[in-house]
Amino acid sequence: MTGAFITFEGGEGSGKSSQIRMLESRLAAEGVATSVFREPGGGLGGVGERIREVLLDPAHDALDPLAELLLYEAARAQLVAEKIAPLLDAGEVVLCDRYTDSTLAYQGFGRAAAPLDVIRELNAIATRGVAPDLTLLLDVDPALGLACATHAGADRLEREELAFHQRVRAGFLAVAAEDPDRVVVVPRDRPDAVADQVWGVVRDLLVRLGVLH
Ligand code: TMP
Repeated sequence: MTGAFITFEGGEGSGKSSQIRMLESRLAAEGVATSVFREPGGGLGGVGERIREVLLDPAHDALDPLAELLLYEAARAQLVAEKIAPLLDAGEVVLCDRYTDSTLAYQGFGRAAAPLDVIRELNAIATRGVAPDLTLLLDVDPALGLACATHAGADRLEREELAFHQRVRAGFLAVAAEDPDRVVVVPRDRPDAVADQVWGVVRDLLVRLGVLH
């Protein structure tokens, strides 16, 4: 038995977290329990969250791009081994706020930390081949998204210049165009319209997988 693995991707302030919360409660209302994680770290303490602290700490402005890339992959390897793979093997529905596409977009397109093929290979190694069944890309103009996301405590990535975030957005859209069967692009305009679109796509997948009827 394998479960369903759904990831959410998007730039800063794209509204992923609130969409995940809404989806989680909609699924609960249908009697489908879910496990929710966020990358980097998982959101449950432990090794991954320690790596997250290192990655997002604005004091680490000298972090080498390759070291950054490998730390994201290290956090991912831990989360997949510890949580995601066992839950999927047990037939569970797993939602994750960011996953491998974020590394392609941020470290690949945003930073050029390594060639895209190398990042794809590192993603495959860190995930042991555990790939999402569906990815929802919440697309927003970074100028708008950053205004929503940036606050006094902006983290290391949020502090990057607008041009960086524009490359990240273009990266996400390029990844989506390459893999249209997996990645659904949802423009972030009105949050309730986004939630309905997300629900429609997720429901179709879960019906196809026999989780919902
Ligand atoms: P978030 O919790 O606000 O999404 O913060 C995570 C930050 O880490 C966000 O700025 C995106 C960034 N990130 C990467 O640069 N590469 C990755 O592989 C992942 C998962 C996140």
